Amino acid sequence: MSFEQKPCHVAIVMDGNGRWANSRSLKRTIGHQAGITAVKGVVKSSLKHGIEVLSLFAFGQDNWKRSDEETSFLMQLFYRSLEGEYKKLHAQGVRIRFIGELSAFSDKLLGMIKEAETLTQCNSRLTVVIAVNYSGQWDILQAMHKYQVQQHSLPQTPGSLAPYLATSGLPDPDLFIRTSGEQRISNFMLWQLAYTELYFTQVFWPDFDANIFEVALRWFDTRKRRFGNAKDNANNAKTIKDEHE
Ligand code: IPE
Ligand code: MG
Repeated sequence: MSFEQKPCHVAIVMDGNGRWANSRSLKRTIGHQAGITAVKGVVKSSLKHGIEVLSLFAFGQDNWKRSDEETSFLMQLFYRSLEGEYKKLHAQGVRIRFIGELSAFSDKLLGMIKEAETLTQCNSRLTVVIAVNYSGQWDILQAMHKYQVQQHSLPQTPGSLAPYLATSGLPDPDLFIRTSGEQRISNFMLWQLAYTELYFTQVFWPDFDANIFEVALRWFDTRKRRFGNAKDNANNAKTIKDEHE
């Protein structure tokens, strides 16, 4: 399958693990476990389609509001999944990068995160960005803070703040996908999603598979991206600009 227009960066809010489990009379934690299988699938599909960056919202700052049982299960699941997968991902040329307020995590999990990031840091086939204890508002604030500390002033343009965001060095997402029927951004990459195409699907995250990913990619292929330009001159903006120069 080939596309005329392929997203370079796909960002996903993996939602619906709990409802997937409830609908089967299973515990929510079983849904999270099933969600890991879907993560492995979407990484495989991204490699197949030549996607360069895949960002996954795994745990938001607001998810600490959940029960202790669920959050501690999730932390253990992150650890086990990372431990079991990072060397395999490395062998496939995948770079693993974490974004979020990582200091909230245990030394054990932090050590595993560091190990995975360090081992894979020179890989360039696909970058998998895992957002944990992340929020878009936090990202903007920490970037402003870092900018002020380093530059002793405030940023004057969006481009000058971008290198201070957690996503520094990465292109902004072209395609955003959210599963489970909810149509909201839920504090994911607020700054970076400024011109991203938004795709929503009813399926719960554990049911997200290669076919649904391809449906989203086909939908993206039909989008006319204008980035604020007018409909008629989006493709010849450079020509028009040149004429005026
Ligand atoms: C998404 O599934 C996974 C995480 C946020 C870790 P949910 O746990 O939000 O599932 P629902 O929305 O309750 O069904
Ligand atoms: Mg949810």
